[in-house]
Amino acid sequence: MSAEKILVTGGAGYIGSHACVELLQVGYDVIVVDNLSNSKPESLARVEKITGKALHFVEADIRDKQALNDIFSTHDIYAVLHFAGLKAVGESCAQPIRYYENNVYGTLVLTEMMQQYGVKRIIFSSSATVYGEPDTVKYTEDLPVYGATNPYGKSKAMVEDILKDLATADKLSNASDPWKVILLRYFNPIGAHLSGLIGEDPNGIPNNLVPYVSQVAVGKLEQLSVFGGDYPTIDGTGVRDYIHVVDLVKGHLNALQAIQNISGCKAYNLGAGKGYSVLEVISAFKRITGKSINYKIVERRAGDIAENYADPGLALRELNWQTEKNLDDMVADTWRWQSTNPNGYA
Ligand code: NAD
Ligand code: WQD
Repeated sequence: MSAEKILVTGGAGYIGSHACVELLQVGYDVIVVDNLSNSKPESLARVEKITGKALHFVEADIRDKQALNDIFSTHDIYAVLHFAGLKAVGESCAQPIRYYENNVYGTLVLTEMMQQYGVKRIIFSSSATVYGEPDTVKYTEDLPVYGATNPYGKSKAMVEDILKDLATADKLSNASDPWKVILLRYFNPIGAHLSGLIGEDPNGIPNNLVPYVSQVAVGKLEQLSVFGGDYPTIDGTGVRDYIHVVDLVKGHLNALQAIQNISGCKAYNLGAGKGYSVLEVISAFKRITGKSINYKIVERRAGDIAENYADPGLALRELNWQTEKNLDDMVADTWRWQSTNPNGYA
């Protein structure tokens, strides 16, 4: 029997490239569609180097119907891992149309083509941001998802709705080959592949904590601003559920195993179930890299919440998945990537 083919949208990006490695290593055939708007083809060359296997790369935009038509008419795709999207919260506030156009319309074109070719299994990269600002710090999947505070988060909630509606339509019509949808709500992915060959390569000044800290550690940035020191948390700084990117993508492999037995649409949190504060992350970086991390506590960042972490119990029960790596692993792997590739893939 030939290997199942998986279409990975956004496969040249940070999380997508790590997913390609794990997919190839367990024997799937991988087709990547990426417009390289936030990535470089070198990441895919590195994926092939790590795995010793070839993947098929199509440089195209998921909003390009003709390009998708070519892919679906050429390849018998088993399922789609849908990572392609724009993801910068601040940028989404400044350019909402661009975010809705790319993330929402892009998904509409993708799912329309999937429907046309009868490819009805999709695993979507959603985000804990869809929960907005609930009254609890430990998030379960049954919390409402209508509180996102920025266009990026709202685009994720909208896509979740579209995918749910597709599954519902097939249920109502008793379709013989119904949509199977898994929404994976990521917490804070960090870290890099153990080889140090692939990792996160943000454009310009990083928005997120860990890429920022690692650029301070490697000497590219002067000083970290810690956004807020007066939150009601263990040390006053923000607490988040950091998850190793390899653990995260392994969750997708488990989801692929489970998807055929899913009825309709299911959402799962992918997180460690434990939070760390900004100061705890800084202290792990200092200890593991041996570098000093220059930081200053400044005003809170608008839109930030004090603390959140996942209840990952549902993913354990239904996908048989849980994280395996701890904060030290995440920092050590980030550092291996950052220190051996100080300029990313450039
Ligand atoms: P990334 O920017 O590194 O990867 C996204 C990839 O999609 C890039 O290679 C980009 O070129 C590509 N892309 C974007 N729009 C496209 C389009 N219209 N057509 C084709 N390709 C397109 O981001 P990432 O961190 O790897 O995130 C992957 C997914 O996970 C995104 O959907 C993101 O919203 C989601 N997510 C990420 C995080 C995080 O903190 N990194 C957290 C929650 C959810
Ligand atoms: C983590 C903590 C900051 C930078 C974002 C998106 C979310 C998801 C993941 C995609 C917070 C503090 C940060 C800095 C700091 N992405 N911080 N100085 O905000 O939890 O989540 O990325 O879906 O949607 O909102 O992640 O890494 O930006 O911040 O003190 O320079 O670090 O205040 O407490 P966040 P983050």
